[in-house]
This record gives sequence, C-alpha cells and structure tokens, in this order.
Amino acid sequence: MDQPFWIGTSWKMNKTLAQARNFTRTLRASTLLDSDERLQGFVIPPFTALETVCRELADESVMVGAQNMHWADAGAFTGEVSPTMVIDCGADIVELGHSERREYFNETDEAVNRKVKAALAHGLRPLICIGETATEKALGATEETVLRQAKIALSGVSAEQLGRCLLAYEPVWAIGDGGSPATPEYAQWIHRCLREALPRTADDQPLPVLYGGSVNEDNCADLAALPEVAGLFIGRAAWDADGYLRIVSKVANARLAA
Ligand code: PGA
Repeated sequence: MDQPFWIGTSWKMNKTLAQARNFTRTLRASTLLDSDERLQGFVIPPFTALETVCRELADESVMVGAQNMHWADAGAFTGEVSPTMVIDCGADIVELGHSERREYFNETDEAVNRKVKAALAHGLRPLICIGETATEKALGATEETVLRQAKIALSGVSAEQLGRCLLAYEPVWAIGDGGSPATPEYAQWIHRCLREALPRTADDQPLPVLYGGSVNEDNCADLAALPEVAGLFIGRAAWDADGYLRIVSKVANARLAA
C-alpha cells in the first residue's frame, strides 16, 4: 500500500483556545485534505488546546498530535504530561525530540528513545525530530549526527512498531526566524542517507522521513517533489490556517505533476 504524503504543522508555544478554534474552523470549511487520499494532514497544538482541537477535528481526516510527553504513565513529575493523558485528549501523534526541546530543555537521545517506546506501547504514532546544528554541519558531522539521533531514538523498536513511526529531518540551522531552508539537493542527500541506513518496516517499506525547517509556499513544491521526502513538517508558514491550506494545495499539485 502506498504511504500517504504527510503534511502538518506544530504551533509550538502559540495560540489561545480562541485562536485554535479559528484555525480548526477554517480547516473544517475546506475539503482539500478530505478529497485527496494521497495526503495526510496533521496539526500539533500546545497541550492547552489539544483536547479542543481533537474534538473540533474529530470528523475530519486531519490527525492531531501533542508536542511532547513524559514516558511514565503517571507519577510525581510536576509539569509533565503522560502518554495516557495525551490519548485521553484524543491525539494520534506525539512529536518527540524537537531541536527546541533538545536545546532549551536538555532532552537527550536516550530520553527521546524512552518516550518513543512509551508512545508505541500506548498506540501513539511518534513523530521523531532529528537534525544537525550549524556547528555540526560546519564540522562535517551532519550524517553522523542525524544517524546517531535516529538510531538511538529507534533503539529497541520492533520492525512491526517501525511501521507506526515517523521521522522528521529538521536541520537546526533551517528552523525558525533567521533560519534558511535546506536546498532540495541538501535535503535529498540526507533523506537518502537515512533511507539507506535505517531499518525498513515489517512490510518492507522505508521509514517515512518528513522534511522540516523554513518550509513555505515558495519552496514546498520543490521539497515535496523529492522522491525520498515523505512529508513536510511546517512551523511559521502554516500557523495561519489559510497559509497551511495554500501549502497543502501546492503540494497536492506538485505530487500530481511528479
Ligand atoms: P519553521 O519551524 O517552519 O518555522 O522553520 C519548523 C519546525 O520547527 O518544525
């Protein structure tokens, strides 16, 4: 079975409940994602809006995810959210190991691995973010860095469970204000390295690897046309629902033309 092309956005630490509802209202009014089975949309709101967004999009084809979670089911971990709580909100996906979590909250490869295993044990689909910093790139350690992050994150994950994992290659130097997107050639190179080095799923499919980092309306079609890119993970350019839908539409046309 052909894998869908994943296309989604994390809102990071943005949007009140009212703003979240505005976004879901626009999405519900559009048939773009429902009418195209080749595309799988997803939205990753902050925890405060997770349950609301899950409820608002319950009848839509768009999946919803959390931005992080603890690996334990419950316990004395003030400020943390457990896999059970994420599922309780109605989410399908959990984003793990984003570079902002790694940089500002000291999240290690080992912690990401514990979270990945907990997510899978609970039936969630982990979206595991990996990517080299500008320094690692400048020192020629890009491949080693992303392969180390991916291999540790997936350590102890069975071939069957791999079928539920998503990876997002997000070079740290490409993310956020001041970041510049990877060129299609650069993205292609890393995506190919990952495809060659990482195990395949039980039904012999490559692990889907999304690209993220300054994806926008101008570059989305070229990135989506790369054969190894299994999806796009978007920040700023998709925080506005119309912006997200414009990217979805461009990607749909690019994939159709490919
Ligand atoms: P950006 O964020 O699209 O705003 O660069 C991407 C990300 O952090 O996933």
